[in-house]
Amino acid sequence: MPKKTADWLGRARLVLFLLLLAPAGWLLYAGIGNHLGPDPAKALVDQSGLWAFRCLLLSLTMTPLRYATHRSFWIRFRRMIGLFALFYAALHVTAYVFLLFGARWQELLAELAKRPYVMVGAAAMVIMLLLGLTSTKGWQRRLKRNWIKLHRLVYAAALLILLHFIWVNKLGLTGIWPYALVLFFLLGVRFWWFFRQSERNK
Ligand code: HEM
Repeated sequence: MPKKTADWLGRARLVLFLLLLAPAGWLLYAGIGNHLGPDPAKALVDQSGLWAFRCLLLSLTMTPLRYATHRSFWIRFRRMIGLFALFYAALHVTAYVFLLFGARWQELLAELAKRPYVMVGAAAMVIMLLLGLTSTKGWQRRLKRNWIKLHRLVYAAALLILLHFIWVNKLGLTGIWPYALVLFFLLGVRFWWFFRQSERNK
């Protein structure tokens, strides 16, 4: 890669890193300063969950942007954004287990049985962990073509999170539809490419 491009990419990645870290900084600041409203623990669970979903959707836009602009540099941002999604999801689950439940495991298990939407979130979390752990160059080399197949699970994770979100139904559909629209658009674009590709290969 030419030095100029590498410098530019390095700077862009740094800016993106800081932008994606900013919500965590705000949550920390608001948490310490007691600016998270009357129920700070719940607000932290909600906000970190929303940021996890936003980051996941943003990571899914990198491949369509690559095809639409014929520029491959978008892919260089994908892993970092995906890892931020995992980071916010981990914050979400940690806040839920330790702040909302005070790590009372018996109560937590009863809650899991009572509220299936939590199980749906947990399934998405397992997928995201798996994808995060295998996102390195080493795993890419080891798994070869299977790596792409494995990482297609990101769509399953995104659909599970949408279901989890709808089930929680905190914002009503008014708050959810922009996320649903973005996700279905991204999935639609991929299906369209897939069919166009198979038509061409006939
Ligand atoms: C073990 C895994 C998970 C558990 C136990 C869990 C638990 C919860 C709970 C209890 C709520 C409702 C909070 C409230 O009543 O205010 C919630 C909401 C939410 N969760 Fe999760 N979740 C999990 C995984 C995930 C993951 C992996 C994501 C995204 C990547 C996610 C995204 C969301 C979103 C977007 C909301 C809605 C927030 C809102 O209404 O403002 N969750 N989750």
